[in-house]
Amino acid sequence: MMRFAVGLSVLVVVANGQGFKPEIPKVWDDEAVERFELPLAHRDRSPKHMSSQEYYALKVRPIYKTYPMYEPGKEPSGYLEWLKQQEPQVVFDPAQLKSKEDWIAAGKLVFEHEPLVFPYRPGETFFRNPLPASKEGVLPPFIPGNQFIIRKKGVLEIGINSCAGCHTRVMPDGSYLAGAQGVVDFRRDEAAIQRAKDVKPEVLARRQEAAWVLYGTPWLESKEKFLERMSKEELARQVAALHSGVIARQGTSGSHPPHIPSLIGVKNHKYLDSTGFARHRSIGDLARYAVTNQGLDTLAHYGGFQPSANETPFSAEKGTRYSDEQLYALALYIYSLEAPKNPNPVDDLAKRGQKVFSQQGCAGCHNPPLYTNNKLTVDKGFVVPADLRKSDDILDVSVGTDTTLALKARRGTGFYKVPSLRGVWYRNAFGHGGWADTLEEWFDPSRVKSDYVPKGYWMQPGPIEGHEFGLKLSAEDRKALIAFLKTL
Ligand code: HEC
Ligand code: HEC
Repeated sequence: MMRFAVGLSVLVVVANGQGFKPEIPKVWDDEAVERFELPLAHRDRSPKHMSSQEYYALKVRPIYKTYPMYEPGKEPSGYLEWLKQQEPQVVFDPAQLKSKEDWIAAGKLVFEHEPLVFPYRPGETFFRNPLPASKEGVLPPFIPGNQFIIRKKGVLEIGINSCAGCHTRVMPDGSYLAGAQGVVDFRRDEAAIQRAKDVKPEVLARRQEAAWVLYGTPWLESKEKFLERMSKEELARQVAALHSGVIARQGTSGSHPPHIPSLIGVKNHKYLDSTGFARHRSIGDLARYAVTNQGLDTLAHYGGFQPSANETPFSAEKGTRYSDEQLYALALYIYSLEAPKNPNPVDDLAKRGQKVFSQQGCAGCHNPPLYTNNKLTVDKGFVVPADLRKSDDILDVSVGTDTTLALKARRGTGFYKVPSLRGVWYRNAFGHGGWADTLEEWFDPSRVKSDYVPKGYWMQPGPIEGHEFGLKLSAEDRKALIAFLKTL
């Protein structure tokens, strides 16, 4: 029966040791937690997280072996019965990890681990899934709900909310690129928008409450006003706003969701999130970022406001957490991710584009080798607090993009970071809100006109504002600039 044990989650232990000494940070250290996030633009609303003592009192969530799910009718005969015979197996075991490679391989398991678990109901697809199955009929495992999890013998479950679910890209040749900008675009079609409009009153009320937990920002808009605004039409509009490469996460904005960044190369980036919400000074900071984003941030107190009192709302078992070892492995895995070989040639056109890049002063912000100066730019109308000028890397200019995420969302810092241009050739959805689907559109001068209709974006017509660099080029220079950017 071994033939069923394919699965990405088989941990191969290479016991070569090689003197690797893991340096596992204490992730939820009170002092480090205090300093890793920028204060919010509304400083007295900066999140106050649970204490180290409370955090470590939570139970560690084991990471279980997962099993592939097949397209209907494609599974080997007797597959489900066989699965029901399987004992739960914990696949992440720090005692087995010797070399750095072992830790990285174990980090992949954490990256693919789905913390939020539901019963499996045969014939029911969790997300309608736009991606094709493999030749063998195996569904893409990183798409939410596409693997079996066995935490208890005889009980089949599915899960969602793994890092891999949002941070895996399907490349043009059909391969999956871990860590790159995800392709979650399972809700973008007319039927989904119509379903959102036809929603029953009791379901609508649940969605409104859920939206409040995710995005409610009472210091800017009362709960009453928020719920009033979250009409069926608005929620349908928010479904329409989702498109490939973009997703609204808690603390951001349903109407102005951010694009998903690529994690390849993140090791060199000093700030995390478009708004630079988290400082990234160490492996511990990346681990803390993962903890907050898997649910701890909705438990935090923003001044007098706690979005959810539900213990760790983003995990299956109440009151569970990652272990520091799991988080260390996860961070090592993310740091190990590399870009695939760039297929775009450095030809004459690209060389000409490189000249345009320097003539236009792009390198003032996007300087090589990272093609970012790792600084924060200031959102329109935000006054930089004096202490942040000393503690952080701030460039006192505004590039003039939409202000919602930085100033009107729960985790708004008042800043937008300068993103790296490395790997733009395998990304889409440019600008922090992903409004321009391609580089061609990002550098199309007509995008700033008031009657512009964005191409990959389903919101109402309107300009893609700001970042007007490179919009006044001749057609030839523009083409060359884009050719150059695609070689990075
Ligand atoms: C539901 C989708 C989703 C899931 C699940 C998810 N992320 Fe993300 N991630 C995002 C989005 C969206 C952003 C950008 C947010 C922003 O810019 O405000 C992001 C940003 C990041 C960043 C910042 C990178 C940068 O350059 O700014 C890191 C690091 C990251 N995620 C790691 C993880 C890890 C690790 C996990 C699993 C523990 C995870 N993410 C799970 C959607 C997701
Ligand atoms: C003053 C600093 C600054 C200059 C100069 C600048 N940029 Fe940017 N660039 C930014 C910032 C900040 C963003 C993020 C904008 C946002 O948050 O929406 C950005 C975003 C981008 C993006 C989208 C990347 C992504 O991941 O979404 C591209 C491409 C880009 N810049 C290329 C260029 C080029 C080419 C030039 C020169 C013609 C240039 N930039 C000049 C600061 C700058």
